[in-house]
Amino acid sequence: MHRLALAGLLVVAVAFPGAPGPATAGPDTLADLLPGNAVEGSRLFVSRGCIRCHAVRGDGGTVASDLGRLRLKRPLLELAGIMWNHSPRVAAVFRDPGARQPKLEPEEMAHLLAFVYSLGHVEGPGDPAAGARAFRVKGCQTCHAVAGAGGDVGPALDKYGQYASPLFLSAALWEHAPAMAKAMRERGMQRPRFSAENIVDLLAFLQTSAPARPRLYARPGDPARGETLFEDKGCAGCHAVRGQGGKIGPDLARPGALGGSLTQVAGTMWNHAPKMWERMAERGVEIPSLSVEEMADLVSYLYLFQFMDAPGDPRRGRAVLRDKDCTGCHGLRQGEPGAAGPLVESAALGSPVALITRLWNHASLAAAPGSASRPMFTGTEMADLVAFLVSIRDGKDVPGGRAR
Ligand code: HEC
Ligand code: HEC
Ligand code: HEC
Ligand code: HEC
Repeated sequence: MHRLALAGLLVVAVAFPGAPGPATAGPDTLADLLPGNAVEGSRLFVSRGCIRCHAVRGDGGTVASDLGRLRLKRPLLELAGIMWNHSPRVAAVFRDPGARQPKLEPEEMAHLLAFVYSLGHVEGPGDPAAGARAFRVKGCQTCHAVAGAGGDVGPALDKYGQYASPLFLSAALWEHAPAMAKAMRERGMQRPRFSAENIVDLLAFLQTSAPARPRLYARPGDPARGETLFEDKGCAGCHAVRGQGGKIGPDLARPGALGGSLTQVAGTMWNHAPKMWERMAERGVEIPSLSVEEMADLVSYLYLFQFMDAPGDPRRGRAVLRDKDCTGCHGLRQGEPGAAGPLVESAALGSPVALITRLWNHASLAAAPGSASRPMFTGTEMADLVAFLVSIRDGKDVPGGRAR
């Protein structure tokens, strides 16, 4: 059996706190949306056999994609479609004697998803040579020394060599950004912009130029605490999250707003800082200071937005329902024929994790009676289908007539 060399990975992995509650309410808070624990998920990934087909950064099966290299960017309901798609194939692999495809509980799926999503938020090791180049090109060297070489306008940066996570550097950059911007203005320098690669490479440069043991790790960010900080630090006064909140800055959960790793998210905050400061000054708000822990919490909260699905289109959802043969087994409403129960009544409609689990557990079932093969889902089809089912449940009329 494969063993996962995950210790290093998981040190900076987000822990998604709390146990999933009953899957009846809509996913209003983040804890409802992704309630699992990534460390627990890494264990299930091995014990539930995912690793027979999927590797994580080279460790594991080669039947399917390496989930560590892939950087999963799919929103949750798109993932629900994928879980439905690959379940028959999974069933085939587990058909060897003594092996049965595991049915999963929603709690287990939540942990697995937390693990799979957390794989994308740490980046591979940076490139010290590229970091040394960035240190020069971005102008850091003009003001900062490392290992005795460089300017003395700002403090020497040797101490950052002891940190294992780029979040320390990201937090320091945010914390000192106003003073640095002033020093740069005084010298007629352009304020540099950062990509995640820049920050990770800079860290690798600091680690090799001023190495220190033992390394200090950041406590894993806690998105639930980040959600609280988002209010407490005044971010919500200017930023909406899915339409709820301030209107002065952009909605941070709009589709495609924040992409990539935790460091990428932190880099985006740095890049937009001057405009934010202007708005804060106009409103008489102080620039909020953030500790490393707070930065980790906040960024792990913002990081999750990229996995929220854009609202589905109920009209397209009606066609999806017809094309995917769901009604070969399910009625739509209470009292309609269908051996497997009415879809509109399912509690799983309120919770992506519950829905993903239910669709995964369809693996052992054949195609619907009378259909040639099992239909597959792509793109937003699952989100559209759910939007359609929810609109019926809530008694909203979808233009174009009834479902069937
Ligand atoms: C029988 C082999 C097999 C097993 C076992 C298996 N998968 Fe998959 N998985 C696939 C295939 C095939 C695909 C689709 C193509 C690809 O990504 O390689 C896929 C796709 C995925 C994707 C989407 C990747 C993307 O393209 O974005 C995720 C996430 C995933 N699987 C998670 C899991 C989890 C979690 C488990 C364990 C509960 C699991 N898989 C077990 C074969 C398997
Ligand atoms: C124009 C001069 C200037 C430039 C250019 C500059 N900094 Fe700074 N930096 C400063 C000053 C001044 C401080 C101290 C700010 C304060 O007291 O809040 C500082 C503070 C810092 C700190 C926190 C230091 C500590 O003791 O914790 C870090 C990290 C940092 N800078 C990184 C960088 C990086 C990386 C670059 C290149 C992208 C850079 N700086 C470019 C002037 C500069
Ligand atoms: C006074 C209003 C204000 C406050 C408070 C504020 N922001 Fe902003 N924020 C803005 C504005 C305006 C922009 C757009 C700046 C630009 O276009 O460069 C922005 C941009 C951003 C972006 C980039 C968004 C994107 O889609 O590219 C992020 C991330 C961000 N803010 C996070 C935060 C966080 C986290 C906090 C709390 C610590 C915060 N902001 C507090 C006004 C604010
Ligand atoms: C071959 C028959 C069959 C087909 C086709 C089928 N299902 Fe199911 N479905 C079942 C069975 C059996 C159950 C389990 C019922 C139970 O456990 O109470 C189930 C359960 C579910 C549940 C959970 C219901 C609950 O109790 O909360 C959901 C949601 C669901 N299916 C969605 C779908 C969707 C969406 C499709 C179309 C893509 C689909 N099913 C196609 C047989 C089928």
